[in-house]
Amino acid sequence: MTTSPLLRVTGLHKSFGRDPVLKGIDLDVAPGDRIAILGASGSGKSTLLRCLNFMELPTAGRVELAGRAIGTERKRRDGSTEIAYPEAELTQVRQRVGMVFQQFNLFPHMTAIANVMEGLRTVRGMPREEAQARAMEQLRRVGLAEKADHYPSRLSGGQKQRVAIARALAMEPELLLFDEPTSALDPELVGEVLGVIRALAQEGRTMLLVTHEIGFAYHYANRVLFIADGVIHEAGTPDEVLKHPKQARTQAFLASHNEFTF
Ligand SMILES: Nc1ncnc2c1ncn2[C@@H]1O[C@H](COP(=O)(O)OP(=O)(O)O)[C@@H](O)[C@H]1O
Ligand SMILES: [Mg+2]
Repeated sequence: MTTSPLLRVTGLHKSFGRDPVLKGIDLDVAPGDRIAILGASGSGKSTLLRCLNFMELPTAGRVELAGRAIGTERKRRDGSTEIAYPEAELTQVRQRVGMVFQQFNLFPHMTAIANVMEGLRTVRGMPREEAQARAMEQLRRVGLAEKADHYPSRLSGGQKQRVAIARALAMEPELLLFDEPTSALDPELVGEVLGVIRALAQEGRTMLLVTHEIGFAYHYANRVLFIADGVIHEAGTPDEVLKHPKQARTQAFLASHNEFTF
C-alpha cells in the first residue's frame, strides 16, 4: 500500500535577485518521515525550509500539502504562468508547517508561556485561558512547565530552544521543520534538545531536520538528503548516504565531519 505524500515539492527554484540558490528540488515527504538534510554552509538548506513554510516565496515550482497545491496559478499578459500566494492562504500553511530556528527567535519581552501562547492568540484567536492551558501542556511536554513565567534572558540556550519547540507544537502542525536547532548551543546543552526531537520522532511526527549532527541524523532519520549546487545531490537511507555515499561530494562532506560516531 502506498500512502499519498503529506508534502510534495516539484521543481522548486529560488533565486535572490539574479543568484539562483535552489535549482529544482523534487521531494515527497510521506506521513511519519523523518528526513535529515545535510549540505555545506550556503548550499540553500535554510532557504529550502523557508520556502516550505513560505517565509520565502519560491521563484518557480510547486509545493503541495496533503494533496493540495499551495497558491493559485494565473496567466501573465504574455501568456506565461505565475503563481500567486495570497497572504491568508500562507497564514494557514504556516500553522500546518511549524518551524524551529537555529537562533530560537523568541520574543525577548515575553515570558516563555507568552511566547508559546502568542500564535494561538493572534493567529487562531483562541481565548486566553484556553491558550494558556494549551501552552502549559506543551511546556510540560518539553520539560519546562516550571519555567513558564521566565523571560528568555533567564533561560539557557537549550531551554530557549525547547520553548521554541513548544511554541511550534502548540499550533498542532502536520509537519515540523528544524533548521540546525542545536548549532547555536553550547555542547553540553545539545543533548536536551536532541532528546526532545527524538521523542517527537518516536511519536511518529513528520519532520525535516537540517543538522550537522551526523550521528544523530543516522539514528533519527529514515531518509537523508545531501544538498549541493541547489539540488538534491544524493538521497537515500542513512546507511546509503552516511555510511556508503556514492557521490564524491557527499564523501568529501562527510570526511570533513569526521568527528561523528554512529
Ligand atoms: N534573504 C536573502 N537574500 C539574499 N541572499 C540570500 C538570502 N537568504 C539566503 N541567501 C543566500 O542564499 C544562499 C543559501 O543560503 P542558506 O539557505 O542560508 O544556506 P544554508 O542554510 O545551507 O547555509 C547563500 O548564498 C545566502 O547568502
Ligand atoms: Mg542555514
